[in-house]
Amino acid sequence: MKVFSEEGKTMKKITLEVNGKKVSKEVADHTVLSVFLREVLNLTGTHVGCDTSQCGACVVHADGKSIKSCTALAADLDGSKVTTIEGLVSNGKMHPMQEAFKKLHGLQCGFCTPGMVMSAIDLLKHKKNPSDKEIRDWLEGNICRCTGYQNIVAAVKEAATKM
Ligand code: FES
Ligand code: FES
Repeated sequence: MKVFSEEGKTMKKITLEVNGKKVSKEVADHTVLSVFLREVLNLTGTHVGCDTSQCGACVVHADGKSIKSCTALAADLDGSKVTTIEGLVSNGKMHPMQEAFKKLHGLQCGFCTPGMVMSAIDLLKHKKNPSDKEIRDWLEGNICRCTGYQNIVAAVKEAATKM
């Protein structure tokens, strides 16, 4: 149901499953998913670097596919299942991709890491044992300004042996 808020913006009640939990909230039509996750749900593991669909820091999964949450409207995802970096931990254990990034130092400052991890997990759904080139091609929408790509590629290959 749509209603008009005090500011005159069109609001919509949406229901999503986020990291396995159902959430229902009113959002403005223009609210992007990254803002919804960070500011409404306080899931700040999803980072915002560019806000213009270039850096990939904001990548999450929507219905199992990696998307840039800075350019997806929360209202359009009504009814979807969203997974963020916070949702990867299971029974207190990190996801194999997170373990591999940790083990092989696939990060420096860590700002790009949530998006890298979420994108890389999606890659392994498509390709079980990707080559270096396939990893680099897949992650071209994820920018690391610490230039840690060598170790990121190594971490994705390591995770591929565990997943
Ligand atoms: S913040 Fe979404 S791509 Fe950079
Ligand atoms: S580890 Fe710093 S931006 Fe990638």
